[in-house]
Order: sequence, then C-alpha cells, then structure tokens
Amino acid sequence: MGKVTSFSKDELERETQRLFSKLQLAGWNRQSCALIAPLTLEINKLKKEKNAIILAHTYVTPDLIFGVADFTGDSYALSKNASETKATTIVFAGVRFMAETAKILNPQKTVLIPSLEAGCSLADHITADDVRKLKKQHPGVPVICYVNTSAEVKAESDVCCTSANAGKIIKALPGKEVIFLPDYFMAKNLTEMTGKKVYSWDAKCIVHEDFDAHAIEEFRKEHPGLKILAHTECEPAVVHLADLAGGTSDMVNYVKKSDAKEFMLVTECGLGDRMRVEFPGKKFIGSCGLCPYMKKNSLATILQALKNPSRDQVVEIPEEIRLRAKKALDRMFELS
Ligand code: 13P
Ligand code: SF4
Repeated sequence: MGKVTSFSKDELERETQRLFSKLQLAGWNRQSCALIAPLTLEINKLKKEKNAIILAHTYVTPDLIFGVADFTGDSYALSKNASETKATTIVFAGVRFMAETAKILNPQKTVLIPSLEAGCSLADHITADDVRKLKKQHPGVPVICYVNTSAEVKAESDVCCTSANAGKIIKALPGKEVIFLPDYFMAKNLTEMTGKKVYSWDAKCIVHEDFDAHAIEEFRKEHPGLKILAHTECEPAVVHLADLAGGTSDMVNYVKKSDAKEFMLVTECGLGDRMRVEFPGKKFIGSCGLCPYMKKNSLATILQALKNPSRDQVVEIPEEIRLRAKKALDRMFELS
C-alpha cells in the first residue's frame, strides 16, 4: 500500500479520543478506536491533499461514518451531495450503482469505488435489454427506475427515484399506469401507496426480503410502546405492521421527531449503529440484516483507493449512456 505516515503520540491520542467519543455509542471499545486511529488520520490527511470527499451510505460501518465520511445519508441525499460538491475526487463508500450515479452527475470528477465487489442484488438483476422488452410489452407507459440500477438501465428510463421520493414521483406522472423497476416488493408497496397500476420486475433486496412479518408481530407484543420502522424494500406484510414505511432518511426523520423511546429498524444494521450514536437517548432493538455488499467497504479499501486506485476502481461511463441516464436523474430532482 506504499508509505504510511507516522503520526505523533499526541495526534494518535486525540484521534483515538475523537473516534471513541462517537463509536462507544455503537459498542466500540477504546482499544479498537486506537487500532484504527492511524488509518482515519491518514485518510483524512489524504482527502485534504487530493481535494477529495468521502460519501458514505448509512449502511456502511460506523468507523467509516464517524471516522472519515464527509457526508452520510440515503441514496437521495448522497446523489444531491455528489451533484453539489466542489471536491475534484469523490470516494463512494457505498455500492456500485451509487458511485455510478455520482459519476453520471459529475463527469469531470474522479469517482472512486473502494470495493469492486460492492454490487447490489436489485441492480444486478435487471439489464437494459430487459427494460427495452418491458417497454415493448407496455408501449407508452412511463418507466421509473429505482436508483438501485445500473447506468444502462437508468438510460432506458424516463425518470429515476429513490425510496425517499418513489411515491411522490409515481403520483406526479401522467396516467394510471407505470413501469417501476426492478424491486418486486417495493412495486407492490407503491401500488398500495399510489393507487396506480405498477408493472414491475422480480428482483428483491437480499437484506429486506428476509424480514418475517410473524416474528416482528411477536416481538412487538413483548415491547409495548415500540415503534416499528420498515424499509419499503420489505414485503407488504411487513410494511403493513410498521408505524412508518419509507426509506432510511424517512426513518431518521421519524426518530428525530418521535417521543417514543424504543424503535425497531426493519432494515440494514448500519442504520441502527448510526442512530445509536446520533440519538443516544433512544433504544434501537430487534433484529436487523447485514448487506454483504455494503460491508465490503472498509478503512483499508478506502485508503488504498485514495492512495493508488486501480483502473477498475475509477468509475467510467460511456458518454452516450451517461447523458441519457442523467436525464432520468434530472427529472427525479425536478419532481421531488
Ligand atoms: P435508501 O438509503 O435510499 O433508503 O436505500 C436503501 C438501500 O437499500 C440502498 O442500497
Ligand atoms: Fe442492494 Fe439491498 Fe444491499 Fe441496498 S441493502 S445495496 S438494496 S442488496
């Protein structure tokens, strides 16, 4: 990995304390913070030297979120951050489709993806050819792609959306029918939320498809006063049980405003870790799921990508596809 800077004892001690003040709330001990302090110091130093920022999705581990990220948020907030930043390099601690979105919006910037294995079970299960076939089956019906899609799929779509704005965008489109891709469960939830006929695809999120409505119902019985917040990538039976169904930003906003003390976050475990740090007075209980793709991001992979990215870690999108995909993203910003 090349030369590693040596930091003074004082610098390391201060960094350990900075990390521990946050990460202890997510269950980290001081020794673990001391172990990662040289890495976070090195990454933060390199960011300044290279005019780079790190965008981190809420589902990555808290050492990245509280140690090195400049912005943390949901897919929508991060795509906004990507379109507004003055940095010349964006390191995307998330998954591939997010880094691609950042590149679509910032063709002149260097966008780096730390792990080449950071895919997504939704984005990886639909191709541009599948979309073209669906359009032939439903001529004239507007195509909305979830942001969890490749640049090629976005290029075939009329408008993009995220979990934070899908309902609003579907309602804003003309007509009573839409093609929504590729999330099968989210399409079902959106049918109920918008009253429109939603044609979809059969892809599922491997994290959210695993939640079981019966188990959640039983858990609620044992915890009176518990608020259940479920991601709309979960099946309708789970969503029906929830006090709030939405994206990760909707869940953060709900917790911020709620007087309740106990919450179950029916989503990826990273959100609970982040919330434990940001809302120390509240309790986050119950099961969560791990996204193996998001968890490919680590301080070591980020440091390597910042220092000396391989050709594959630099996100490139053919200009013809980028321009068409950007139209779908621009339309999303207009409608949300
Ligand atoms: P949001 O952050 O937009 O809710 O998305 C969840 C997700 O699964 C991202 O991969
Ligand atoms: Fe994809 Fe699900 Fe992982 Fe999000 S949590 S990146 S939707 S597999």
